[in-house]
This record gives sequence, C-alpha cells and structure tokens, in this order.
Amino acid sequence: MSFDEIIERRGTHCAKWDMMQPIYGVPAEDGIAMWVADMDFRPPQVVQDAVERMAAHGVYGYFGDDSAYLAAIQWWMANRHGWEVAPEWIFTTHGLVNGTGLCVDAFTAPGDAVMLMTPVYHAFARVITAAGRTVTECPLTVMDGAHQMDFAGWEALLTGREKMLILCSPHNPGGRVWSVEELQAVAEFCVRHDMILVSDEIHHDLVFPGAKHTVMPLAAPQILDRLVMMTAGTKTFNIAGSHIGNVIIPDPGLRASFGKRMAALGISPNSFGLHMITAAYSPEGAAWVDEVVAYLDGNRKLFDDAINAIPGLRSMPLESTYLAWVDFEGTGMAPAEFAERVEKGAKIAVNHGGSFGKGGESFLRFNLATPRAVVEEAVERLRVAFADLQ
Ligand SMILES: Cc1ncc(COP(=O)(O)O)c(C=O)c1O
Repeated sequence: MSFDEIIERRGTHCAKWDMMQPIYGVPAEDGIAMWVADMDFRPPQVVQDAVERMAAHGVYGYFGDDSAYLAAIQWWMANRHGWEVAPEWIFTTHGLVNGTGLCVDAFTAPGDAVMLMTPVYHAFARVITAAGRTVTECPLTVMDGAHQMDFAGWEALLTGREKMLILCSPHNPGGRVWSVEELQAVAEFCVRHDMILVSDEIHHDLVFPGAKHTVMPLAAPQILDRLVMMTAGTKTFNIAGSHIGNVIIPDPGLRASFGKRMAALGISPNSFGLHMITAAYSPEGAAWVDEVVAYLDGNRKLFDDAINAIPGLRSMPLESTYLAWVDFEGTGMAPAEFAERVEKGAKIAVNHGGSFGKGGESFLRFNLATPRAVVEEAVERLRVAFADLQ
C-alpha cells in the first residue's frame, strides 16, 4: 500500500475536507485540512474486501451472530496488547464519544463532576456538560517539552463531587504514552477519591518506535472493579465513519449498569462496522498498522524538524497519535493572531488549542495523517506565514 497516493476527498461528504471552508474559512480549492482526526489513506485491503463482499451481496439486513466479531476483538487485544478479554465484557457502542456519554449516564448523576486532565480531547467536556454534569479541569504540566501529571496540584482542585475520571491513554493532544508508573498513580488517585476510571485508549495502536503502551488493566489490575476500558479500531484502521467502538468492562456490577443504559436507549451496532472490525482485527490488519505507523513516524519527523526551525514555534514530541501539538507561545502573539496566520496566510485548517481546555490556549493541533507531499507543502506554507520571525 502506498501512503503517498493523494486521494481526492473533497466532494465526498468528508468532514475534514468538505467542512473546512464553512467552519474555518479555509478555501476548499487550495486549502489543506489538518484538523479532524482521520487519515487521508485507504484502510487495509482486508477491510476493503469485507465491504466489497457486502456490496456484492447487496442485501443490507440486520446482523446476526457476533461470535467472529467478538473473537476478533479478543485476538487483537491478546496479540497486540497482551490482554485477555472475555467476550461477555465487550459492549459495542456507536463509537467512543457515544461510549463516553453512556459512561457518564450510567456511572454519574446530574450535578456530579467528572475529572479531566486538560488539555484533552474536546468531546469529553462537551458530552459531560450536555448531560448536566460538570467538568473538573485538572491541567497537565509541561516539563522537558512534554505533558506530565500533577497529582499534588490536582488534589487542591477536586471539589468532592467527582465520581469519574476520564483518562486519555495515549494522550490526545500531545501524544504522551503514559508509563506504567503514571498509570498506577492514576489508578491510586481514583481509589483515593473513589472515582470510576474510564480509560479511553482509542489511539493505543498507533504508537511510535521507542514508546511502549500498556493497557490500563495490565498496569493496575487491582482496580478492575472500577475500570471501564474504551478501545476502537476506527482511528487505527481509518474507518471512523463506521462509528463503532468497544467498551470493555470486566466488573459484573459496572457491566450491569452500563448494559441497562444500552438497553434503555436501544443501542445496537450497524453491520458495516461489525464486518469491517472483524476483518481489521487480523494478522493482515496488524501488518498494515505496522506500515502506517512507520509512515506516520516519517511524517512526524519531517514536520517537527521544519516547525522547530521556525523561531517561536515548538512541536511537542509525539510518542503516539498523528496529531502534532504545536506551541506558539514563543511568538508572543495572541491565539487569534497566530491562528489567523495559519488559516488565512497558510490556508491550513487546524484545531484550536483552547478548545481542549485549560493549558491548550497557546497551541494549535495539526493532523499529520496525510501523504508526505501534503505535509511538505504545509510546512513550507507555515515557513512563509511566519517568515518575519526568522
Ligand atoms: C481520545 C478520543 N476519543 C474518542 C474519539 C472519537 O471517537 P469516536 O469517533 O469513536 O466517537 C477521538 C477522536 O479523535 C479521540 O481522540
């Protein structure tokens, strides 16, 4: 598979390329979309084949017998992450934003608070507040150019109403792969403050050489009675439009509460997602993931070298994810000014750091999962847009 191929996505109802003009004012004709977290690549052939089999058959009725689907998830977790999952622990949601909403619904009550380590994936706060709960923002610190946890500082920020902590592991944005020691500290913090721990590991298959991800149940097996794992193949295989995610709950009591909410809302997955995931979680899918990670690693090196050569800009070294997190603080510009240079000057649509919560204000997030030539063009435009700083 050549990830260098430029696939035209404009005019395909693609959020990333077709919505950049209405949302950011970045022109559709010559703008570059580096915001929404999906990749400009086709998924592995094994996934294409599964969809083509469905299309060739041509009858799209209700799905039955999920044993192969569940076995594929079990295989993936055991082979790629060393974690043995029982099939009855697995719930299939309409993606992990949906999974987050269900967790908030099942494990907290209106008026309760949910702790987030900010800056963090913006949909968490949106879902929590829409459900009538509040967010307790606990900012990560930046040390040696990377995010660090600050448990001592966070103790003082808790209100006593926190019933749940949503961890992003690896972290989006910034790409930290948390160490086993950090994960254990998160687990202990949850025990100390009696919080359910939801570990969103949607990015955990896209980890760069040199970093080692550990799934939460292996890092802290003592907290299985308060742990909800969220994983998915959608980022991994670039099939986010299939809206399918795994919420994996080892504890029977938590499982009963979650299952009750699923049943009350009548949630059952769509057959495209089920077929795609069954195909993707396979040796063929695994070989493709190794290739895409190597390609993304090349993109991240190219991007970081070019960005860090622009005075005042600093790209956080990613250990995981394809979402570069660039600090513009050194430019001395206000967020509106550096964002305008990127959007109007360089014509690149990016995510604004402030939307990720406290600590994100001086940052922009750039999606690097695109052919290398597009990354090269983007960094050249950024060089020009900030040329007066040289
Ligand atoms: C941490 C995290 N969780 C969840 C999602 C979205 O999940 P889904 O598309 O399954 O709703 C994203 C997308 O970027 C993400 O970064």
